[in-house]
Amino acid sequence: MVKPLCKEQMIPTVNGSFPGPTINVREGDTLVVHVINNSTYNVTIHWHGVFQLKSVWMDGANMITQCPIQPSNNFTYQFDITGQEGTLLWHAHVVNLRATLHGALVIRPRSGRPYPFPKPYKEVPIIFHVRLLELRPAPVSDAYLINGLAGDSYPCSQNRMFNLKVVQGKTYLLRIINAALNTHLFFKIANHNVTVVAVDAVYTTPYLTDVMILTPGQTVDALLTADQPIGMYYMATIPYFSAIGIPASPDTKPTRGLIVYEGATSSLPAKPLMPAANDIATAHRFSSNITSLVGGPHWTPVPCHVDEKMFITMGLGLDPCPSETKCIGPLDQRLAGSLNNRTFMIPERISMQEAYFYNITGVYAGDFPDQPPVKFDYTKFEQRTNSDFKMMFPERKTSVKTVRFNSTVEIVLQNTGIVTRESHPMHLHGFNFYVLGYGFGNYDPIRDARKLNLLNPQMHNTVGVPPGGWVVLRFIANNPGVWLFHCHMDAHLPLGIMMAFIVQNGPTPETSLPSPPSNLPQCTRDPTIYDS
Ligand code: C2O
Repeated sequence: MVKPLCKEQMIPTVNGSFPGPTINVREGDTLVVHVINNSTYNVTIHWHGVFQLKSVWMDGANMITQCPIQPSNNFTYQFDITGQEGTLLWHAHVVNLRATLHGALVIRPRSGRPYPFPKPYKEVPIIFHVRLLELRPAPVSDAYLINGLAGDSYPCSQNRMFNLKVVQGKTYLLRIINAALNTHLFFKIANHNVTVVAVDAVYTTPYLTDVMILTPGQTVDALLTADQPIGMYYMATIPYFSAIGIPASPDTKPTRGLIVYEGATSSLPAKPLMPAANDIATAHRFSSNITSLVGGPHWTPVPCHVDEKMFITMGLGLDPCPSETKCIGPLDQRLAGSLNNRTFMIPERISMQEAYFYNITGVYAGDFPDQPPVKFDYTKFEQRTNSDFKMMFPERKTSVKTVRFNSTVEIVLQNTGIVTRESHPMHLHGFNFYVLGYGFGNYDPIRDARKLNLLNPQMHNTVGVPPGGWVVLRFIANNPGVWLFHCHMDAHLPLGIMMAFIVQNGPTPETSLPSPPSNLPQCTRDPTIYDS
């Protein structure tokens, strides 16, 4: 039960807390989590951003790597955390449930190893998420929260505001997580700059900034030094709406928290000046300026040789309406998301990973295309040619792309404006990818390829593809298994902006798929993606 605004509300929780408990580990640890499902929902837990090296069965993607844990059942997740440090998150990976079932996963260096930056005085998780009014059929919320609290710009919440007490002169490591379902969020602290030192648990070149932006699923580690006069300062988060047609200031109030210096007497806190909701330039500046800390812990240079090149268009399309439902849209159609004109269908009888491991056919097809079926002016919003129109009717299919062990995969992700134009946060399970470049317009393989950063590109597990723009990613497929690649907007999951990679076994037993754990949940009941 939580009460961020004026009314009490029942929500599903982990161990009765919202956000859920922070999990603290060190790099090199084995993490063991017993999940006991006392709820009435089917559930899985995904360790967002964890490499799951040789432990694909523990990835927690519902119907991709496992069948769900059914009510009154339990399952133990156990995996090693190696080769990554920083802040990640864990969350439920059955549609919608991640609204409230999530928390911080903090990976510190092995004992005796320092951070590649001055040791902070204290570390503070800061989680952004939504206040949930309703979970089914679709989540409805009425406020953004910081660490479960709505703060003083919302009714009944004046005294329910996240409060960070600081000592003047000390430095704090903020471990910032965007666990909101569907919203990119700006974050700012009045009168203070921060130094970004990691994104998605990858160390960055220290980057001084007064504003940050996080897509759903992204994390930022930032150092905050209490270097201002003793007093009180607001921190605030506000949505970034990149879709065309969204006015500069929709009716959204910033959600505020407070930085309180030791010794401060009550006063009017300073307020940060927030960017406009459609400030694409500020969002793009922050996203594209981050670089990786070359030579830092776990850094590996960008592979120069590319084995698999893919060009993937992404966006929304329309689909003929099934007869039993009522659809709103031109020509009686419904919205469908797509990657290369494929709308991903989540299997319903058995997980893809089991189908792959046991050679069960008919669950998925290995025909995810490397190119879109037609080329057109991807970013044009209004003038649609006949060929664009074809792209408005994607094919519903469970398609995968199979790649050889240790191959380097390069993906140009091209956003489209077929129905709407907005930033999509694309998340890859099991790997970090290098983000070699971001840009606007149609990707040009000659002009734009020359400008890619192969020296110190940022690394992510989730990247926001600019509205009407593109990103270029590269990853090394060094972990066998079935790995989901999808838009991390919760509303876009059922729309099928999703595909999966199958990474084949390597030449040795150590580079091959492990056997499934003996207690892997079985799909004995109707295992639809929505629970019963
Ligand atoms: Cu954080 Cu597939 O998700």
